[in-house]
Amino acid sequence: MESLKNKTVFITGASAGIGKACAYAFAEQGANVVISARRVEKVSEIAADLSKKFGVKAYAFQLDVRKRADVETAVKNLPADFKNIDILVNNAGLGRGLNKFFEDNPDGWEEMIDTNIKGLLYVTYAVIQQMVERENGHIINISSIAGLEAYPKGSVYCASKAAVESITKSIKMDVVDKNIRVSNIEPGMVETDFSRVRFYGDEEKAKNVYKGITALTAGDIADAVVFIASRKGHVNISQMVIYPTAQASATISHRV
Ligand SMILES: NC(=O)c1ccc[n+]([C@@H]2O[C@H](COP(=O)([O-])OP(=O)(O)OC[C@H]3O[C@@H](n4cnc5c(N)ncnc54)[C@H](OP(=O)(O)O)[C@@H]3O)[C@@H](O)[C@H]2O)c1
Repeated sequence: MESLKNKTVFITGASAGIGKACAYAFAEQGANVVISARRVEKVSEIAADLSKKFGVKAYAFQLDVRKRADVETAVKNLPADFKNIDILVNNAGLGRGLNKFFEDNPDGWEEMIDTNIKGLLYVTYAVIQQMVERENGHIINISSIAGLEAYPKGSVYCASKAAVESITKSIKMDVVDKNIRVSNIEPGMVETDFSRVRFYGDEEKAKNVYKGITALTAGDIADAVVFIASRKGHVNISQMVIYPTAQASATISHRV
């Protein structure tokens, strides 16, 4: 394992779930963290807690990854201590609705495409410039098994994550001579606020997703992110598919 101490890690969508767990996991390893989300009060609280618990530097700011100009400005104006980003974790993302395509609400498509694809592109573009210049860096994208395998009622979410798959592979080719690592993690079912958001706050529907199955936790995915980030510099884990033991595909799970 290579030390992550004093590395600077930028995590998007760190106010909850996987992003928040990544912030804690990296800080535990002594990395300094830059965390953002739309709910700025949450990331600010998390940053204060990380500094207190782990003695690392933590900087929080509000960012909606869908807003290209805001992304550019935020990355350009990072405080001096956080300017050189060693590791970018593109985590901000969401599902909206789980409906047959012909019964779905296109408003959700806009949100998913704008966040999961365009947001990821904007953040990556803003951050990769300095990585290319320094010839050093690591980009870790949180995709999904949905990006590998389409499932019913998930056409646009699956498509948005399939886009992340292609973007990751292509960028890896573009920076092959720049000493920049590019990785993609495809989690199966992780119990977070994801389903609550997907079902627009319907608690019952959200709970049913995880009924009778021990889903992955946000911490399980954060462990994997830290593992990928802490390999020796010449090791690029390009892809990591992670399922709960009782899930075999997007549509095959064993529930008790
Ligand atoms: N949970 C699963 O089963 C699962 C499986 C595979 C992949 N994933 C992926 O894992 C990632 C994290 O999801 P999660 O499960 O941790 O869900 P979550 O608990 O709902 O967290 C999602 C995070 O993304 C942020 N976010 C959403 N839209 C944003 C925007 N426009 N700008 C900035 N931040 C935004 C949210 O923060 P704010 O609302 O404060 O902005 C929140 O911090 C997503 O990309 C998701 O697609 C999840």
